Amino acid sequence: MAGKLLALLPPALLAAAGLAGLLLLSVPTRDVREPPALKYGIVLDAGSSHTSMFIYKWPADKENDTGIVGQHSSCDVRGGGISSYADNPAGAGQSLVECLDQALQDVPQERHAGTPLYLGATAGMRLLNLTSPEAAASVLEAVTRTLTQYPFDFRGARILSGQDEGVFGWVTANYLLENFIKHGRAGRWFRPRRGTLGAMDLGGASTQLTFEAAGPAEDPASEVQLRLYGQQYRVYTHSFLCYGRDQVLQRLLASVLQTHDAHPCWPRGYSAHVLLREVYASPCTTALRPPTFDPTAEVSLVGSGDPALCRSLVSGLFSPAPCPFSRCSFNGVFQPPVAGDFVAFSAFFYTVDFLRAAMGLPVGTLRQLEAAVAAVCNQTWSELQARAPGAGPRLPNYCPAAMFVQQLLSRGYGFDERAFSRVTFQKKAGDTAVGWALGYMLNLTNMIPADPPGLRKALALSAWAALILLFALLLLAALVLLLRRARPAKPPGAL
Ligand SMILES: *[C@@H]1O[C@H](CO)[C@@H](O)[C@H](O)[C@H]1NC(C)=O
Ligand SMILES: *[C@@H]1O[C@H](CO)[C@@H](O)[C@H](O)[C@H]1NC(C)=O
Ligand SMILES: *[C@@H]1O[C@H](CO)[C@@H](O)[C@H](O)[C@H]1NC(C)=O
Repeated sequence: MAGKLLALLPPALLAAAGLAGLLLLSVPTRDVREPPALKYGIVLDAGSSHTSMFIYKWPADKENDTGIVGQHSSCDVRGGGISSYADNPAGAGQSLVECLDQALQDVPQERHAGTPLYLGATAGMRLLNLTSPEAAASVLEAVTRTLTQYPFDFRGARILSGQDEGVFGWVTANYLLENFIKHGRAGRWFRPRRGTLGAMDLGGASTQLTFEAAGPAEDPASEVQLRLYGQQYRVYTHSFLCYGRDQVLQRLLASVLQTHDAHPCWPRGYSAHVLLREVYASPCTTALRPPTFDPTAEVSLVGSGDPALCRSLVSGLFSPAPCPFSRCSFNGVFQPPVAGDFVAFSAFFYTVDFLRAAMGLPVGTLRQLEAAVAAVCNQTWSELQARAPGAGPRLPNYCPAAMFVQQLLSRGYGFDERAFSRVTFQKKAGDTAVGWALGYMLNLTNMIPADPPGLRKALALSAWAALILLFALLLLAALVLLLRRARPAKPPGAL
């Protein structure tokens, strides 16, 4: 009996070793460890109409993974965009103080010095740099002076090109939705088959269209090649300066003033005083500026709420310029046919959301969008106020803004019903705002590697799999041995 037990010992030990190995391997080591330390990054998005501050956070040990960076908090700077401080640059710096003070609270103190801080300015500053490069430089100097007074790792205040703005918005959207690469359950990296998402951004002074192109671009200026996580992307992008929401409204006003008529895109019963200096200040309205005008003059303008006239006024923004390529959007700008899914954010979202939420109008198809725009443009001022109370100072301008969005998408970019059905209007993905800011930070902090992040992990994974297999075989061998030795006398077939 004792001898029999003794004979069972080696296979039992073998089995125990195999079992122990399997158990050790299946315990997730990550959960045993302390929660990983968080890292932070701050981006000030200095837009033409206002500045927003975004604070991002991510686990320090996973910074090269996709979809890992999320929004920690945000802050809206009070007052206008930094480009509105051309006559008082110091005021631009001062305007940021309240949000930066909030950042001191939002980021744990021991992380301040290691937190990169960026300011990126967009089309408002591009326009100011066109009219007065000196003024643009002093505004950037003033904000730099303020930003360097904080304990963060300040990495510069710059004006982004329209191309950067478009591409970083595209990177943000696809990064957040994990369209580049995805971390699967088994710790394995894989490339989602759904492809990338096109991005449409409507700011105050410019608008960007960015999507992965099927073929080579006819105009090299519109193509950007990116290598992200080991994959090459050929991206079409174009930024239309002066086609942002606020500049479009100024241009429509300038055109109405040329005829001194009522404004067909403003509701009947609405009137406003228009300061000529404000209308003509921007390079976007230069062509419509009378040779002489009194900059201090105010003109009183009434709305005529005429959807058909408003439509033709807005269509004047899309010049039928000759197209030097096989295909153009408008103004002679090359554009391949829109393809795939799109996300439309910033003012695209706010405008469509007004139609949907405040006005209760369906906007699921282009035809519905067109009808919704006509309905909004046909409201009287008192109807509009009654229907959308609390819509704020933008209320009289929703008709021209919505008319512009509808025409930009359909006649501008060439979305038909089929293509439009793949557009979603969205301002956030999860808790994170969709815009260029996150993509800008990811790029400048090298958080999107050119090579696949999976290499190291994949190796670890195969080693792990080999060990599992080894221990499992060990266990199996032990069990077989054990079984044979425990029942040596049993004749075969007795079962
Ligand atoms: C992220 O990638 C960069 C460059 O590939 C590398 O130097 C860095 O160590 C990586 N960071 C982590 C946390 O894996
Ligand atoms: C202003 O525009 C000029 C000409 O395009 C450019 O060289 C310069 O870098 C711009 N200024 C800033 C601050 O970006
Ligand atoms: C605009 O409103 C008027 C009444 O205020 C109505 O008679 C007309 O049919 C409407 N037109 C459109 C296009 O909705």
